[in-house]
Amino acid sequence: MTSQRRPLVAGNWKMNGLKSALSELAAMAQGYDAALHAKVDLLVCPPATLVAAAVQTALTGLAVGGQDCHAKASGANTGDISAEMLADAGALYVIVGHSERRTYHAETNAVVKAKAEAGLRAKLTTIVCVGETEAERKAGKTLEIVGRQIAGSLPDGASAANIVIAYEPVWAIGTGLTPTTADVAEVHNFIRTALTGRLGEGGVGVRILYGGSVKPSNAAELMAVENVDGALVGGASLTAMDFLGIAAAYK
Ligand code: 13P
Repeated sequence: MTSQRRPLVAGNWKMNGLKSALSELAAMAQGYDAALHAKVDLLVCPPATLVAAAVQTALTGLAVGGQDCHAKASGANTGDISAEMLADAGALYVIVGHSERRTYHAETNAVVKAKAEAGLRAKLTTIVCVGETEAERKAGKTLEIVGRQIAGSLPDGASAANIVIAYEPVWAIGTGLTPTTADVAEVHNFIRTALTGRLGEGGVGVRILYGGSVKPSNAAELMAVENVDGALVGGASLTAMDFLGIAAAYK
């Protein structure tokens, strides 16, 4: 972490959460006290059905975001949700290119880039996810894959003000496995270099989150790694106790 980048701890609820889960969000908002607020941004991305209600629940400054968006603003796309709709519901962020979208919905870098452009068009801070599979890591291709994802998924007009990168090794998502801090540092430093190569000095200000089995017990160690500016949290973002426990790494 560098002082010029304000850390972000983001929760991705994935396909979890009925209305009853808003009580956890309320508890997160309540726990996001002045001391924590001074140190870190907190964001929760609930399922789309809860975005508007979550915005009402999280009035105290905890931001709400969407988990995905369509590239177009509107049209004949049954079941899809546009970035403009998320913004209209009160979202401030959107996640694009999550590995679950890349894998289960066959989203290419070009698709992810179009979605990221939509996020910027709707004035949402857009979290672009990248990360290698286990096979790619074993084949020594991690940096090559991540480099290609950054080059192909990052939209024109990207800047520290509108883009966040999330490095999520696919094999670390939901498995309890995490890379070593040296491996995390290697990839985050590589992403920083790619960002400054693309954006010049502006690339220094872009936040790079680590995601994949982040928990209260490992958050402090992971968040202390150079060029790790926060976390993208799945399972442990579903309860206020765990999510605030991770954010406490910045206290
Ligand atoms: P877990 O924290 O459950 O491993 O999920 C990480 C993730 O995919 C967040 O987007």
